[in-house]
Amino acid sequence: MSEKSSESTFISVRDIPGVNPAIAEKLEAAGYVSVWSIVVVRPEELAEKTGIPVPVASKIIENARKMLGIRFKTAKEVKSERLNVKKITTGSKGLDELLGGGIETKTITEFYGEYGSGKTQICHQLSVNVQLPYEKGGLLGRAVYIDTEGTFRWERIEAMARALGLDPDTVMDNIYYIRAYNSDHQISTVDDLFSFVPKNNVKLVVIDSVMSHFRAEYPGREHLAERQQKLNAHLHQLMRLAEAYNIAVVVTNQVMARPDIFYGDPTMAAGGHVLAHVPGVRVYLKKAKGNKRIARVVDAPHLPEGETVFAITEEGIRDVEE
Ligand code: GTP
Ligand code: MG
Repeated sequence: MSEKSSESTFISVRDIPGVNPAIAEKLEAAGYVSVWSIVVVRPEELAEKTGIPVPVASKIIENARKMLGIRFKTAKEVKSERLNVKKITTGSKGLDELLGGGIETKTITEFYGEYGSGKTQICHQLSVNVQLPYEKGGLLGRAVYIDTEGTFRWERIEAMARALGLDPDTVMDNIYYIRAYNSDHQISTVDDLFSFVPKNNVKLVVIDSVMSHFRAEYPGREHLAERQQKLNAHLHQLMRLAEAYNIAVVVTNQVMARPDIFYGDPTMAAGGHVLAHVPGVRVYLKKAKGNKRIARVVDAPHLPEGETVFAITEEGIRDVEE
């Protein structure tokens, strides 16, 4: 089976050789519904979450991998997979260029910055833009919007859709919204996405913001290690989701502005970015005059260093008009 066909079709864990109905029930109860959710998990993690013994979990993973034809790849195959990465336009040519063409699939992109820097506006815009045809910078797909702060506005989606000449009702129909009430809810929602995403042609998953619940539930230094461990597991889960289904995952993270300390070095922002231990693209956002915002890509080896200025207009995210 080719990579291309296997990544986009839903295959039930029940189809894995060696998975009897009793095991299938345990897998599904723990949120492992598709074969893709199995091939990317470690045996110990699968065993822990399902109560299946580690050797059995190991065998299931091995069979799932065989089933999908996962093995060593040649460099040429790696190249063609890389070419398979798709991009979603942000609405600003300048910002797209900074990101190497737009928001990439198969990876996590983190937007971090202080309040009002435009993180939520970008999430709204991407949820609309992912629905555009390919030639206009979209993926003809739907969006999942996980909102942890209650700042999602359908009115804004409507306005952004209209500005692009799209039917607002259709666009809103293609955005699946969920309010996550705590970090466990946030994590289990993402677990569910392993079956939801392929069934519903979802091409973008947004979490705005990825950190707020973790920050509130694990306050202070004494909880830092526990919080980081849970957060890292969550981010790896998101990474697997992005890779398994060739979708874009976009997360936001509010950080305090500390111009005295980090001016010229946004990686030193208080709280820092959350993607320290996962591959991904980190974009630092900073307020500028009026509706202007500055974006800077931070430690992305495959992207050139630099900044760009974009604007938050009535229509949405746009280039700054000179
Ligand atoms: P926090 O969630 O508080 O950390 O901020 P954020 O980074 O998510 O900021 P957000 O994306 O909410 O950006 C807020 C800015 O977007 C506001 O200061 C406004 O300038 C702009 N904005 C929000 N809604 C509208 C709108 O309907 N029209 C226009 N023209 N601008 C808007
Ligand atoms: Mg926000």
